[in-house]
Amino acid sequence: MNRTQSAELFAYSRRYLPGGCVSINRLVEPEIAFVRGRGAYLWDADGNRYIDYHAGFAPYLLGHADPDVEGAVRHAMEEGWTLAGSGTTPWEARAAEDLCACVPGLEKVQFANTGSEATYHALRLSRAWTGRRHIVVMQGGYNGWHDEVACNVMTPLEQIGPRVSRGEYPFAPMSAGMAPDASRYVHVLSFNDLGAVEWAFETYDVACLITEPILQNIGVVKPLPGYLAGLRELCTRYGVTLVFDEVKTGFRHALGGYQSIAGVTPDLTVFGKAIANGYPLGAIGGRAEIMDLFIAPDPKRRVLIAGTYNGHHMVMAAAIATMEKLRREGAEIYGRLERLGAQIEAGLKELFARYGVGATVARQGSAFCAYFMDHAPRDWHDIAENHDFDFDLRYRRALIERGVYHFPLPTKQGSISAAHTEEDIARTLEATEEVLRELI
Ligand SMILES: Cc1ncc(COP(=O)(O)O)c(C=O)c1O
Repeated sequence: MNRTQSAELFAYSRRYLPGGCVSINRLVEPEIAFVRGRGAYLWDADGNRYIDYHAGFAPYLLGHADPDVEGAVRHAMEEGWTLAGSGTTPWEARAAEDLCACVPGLEKVQFANTGSEATYHALRLSRAWTGRRHIVVMQGGYNGWHDEVACNVMTPLEQIGPRVSRGEYPFAPMSAGMAPDASRYVHVLSFNDLGAVEWAFETYDVACLITEPILQNIGVVKPLPGYLAGLRELCTRYGVTLVFDEVKTGFRHALGGYQSIAGVTPDLTVFGKAIANGYPLGAIGGRAEIMDLFIAPDPKRRVLIAGTYNGHHMVMAAAIATMEKLRREGAEIYGRLERLGAQIEAGLKELFARYGVGATVARQGSAFCAYFMDHAPRDWHDIAENHDFDFDLRYRRALIERGVYHFPLPTKQGSISAAHTEEDIARTLEATEEVLRELI
């Protein structure tokens, strides 16, 4: 593929942007400058078209530039809403009501601009609510970029050692420059291991356990049967605030979040990404008595939430339109996403079997990941020990050369949108077959 324009744009932006792009986690090979997104497709600066399964790290559930969402945003702009930043607006109230109506466990919500802000607020609320300090996170989970949670996602095993059960992993920071004692109250455990959680709750005065209900930053690592219910039970028993980070799972799998599928209600939930179909929104919600700490009469108990752009009119309009569409057409949309997911899963499995590639396809609805190992992983250690990372990277890069965009970083989740078609999936499978022929 010719990518001359992409290379020129990267060279230009490197003069002023460290790395040549915003958010250094986007700095991958091949370097591509994207200029347009519509429906299931992305176009780069050289006019190459890609079927997009990366979806900008997953927000575009309805596809790029969904006409209903874009229409609502355009209308909001034409109406001249420049109201965020003063008092309240009908739109933020409406977005809050809609979100509470969608997710049964939410009694009250607040909005910020990103998932990271929302997880930050979840930690603060939990500490204020319980009067405790310690937090529990999962090895292989991602909950944002701030100090206490920016750790232990795709950590090399040399750094964390073998799997521990009644114990915790060393804190593996994802950044320099964190507060030197950022890890002091953070405990990193194995996902899918209730014994580890019980150990942590016995050992520390834990304020909250925060976890993605499915680990979707290392592909699609599902909870074992009973795991999420077990977390609920342990959190209730030990008075720990259970926080589900549904920034990736929320709305992608169901309007009620993955919690509605699992039948487990956390105390607090964090959303982002798909709830505004790609507009910058983070939300936190849950039990009213915890959320009301944002307005606690006692200033010593009151939790600060602030942000100039919180509740921005364009973003609220996008969220309202996204939720409206998903409520109106949810049965059709989620049914279709499941069918397309099943089509790609079956097609990939058939191809891997035919070409003798040891692989497993893990999937929940429209989120999928091909692992080059012989079973669906149960945690990060399982992946780190068994997955063929080198093959995964070559596979992804070869697909990109054939116009199928998976993020070129091993184990990153694939996301199908409502704008994808059976033909897109069929074309993807054709490209996959070409890639397997080339790589095997
Ligand atoms: C599960 C999860 N939580 C939190 C975040 C942080 O969200 P944001 O990038 O909007 O700050 C992400 C982002 O990828 C995520 O996947």
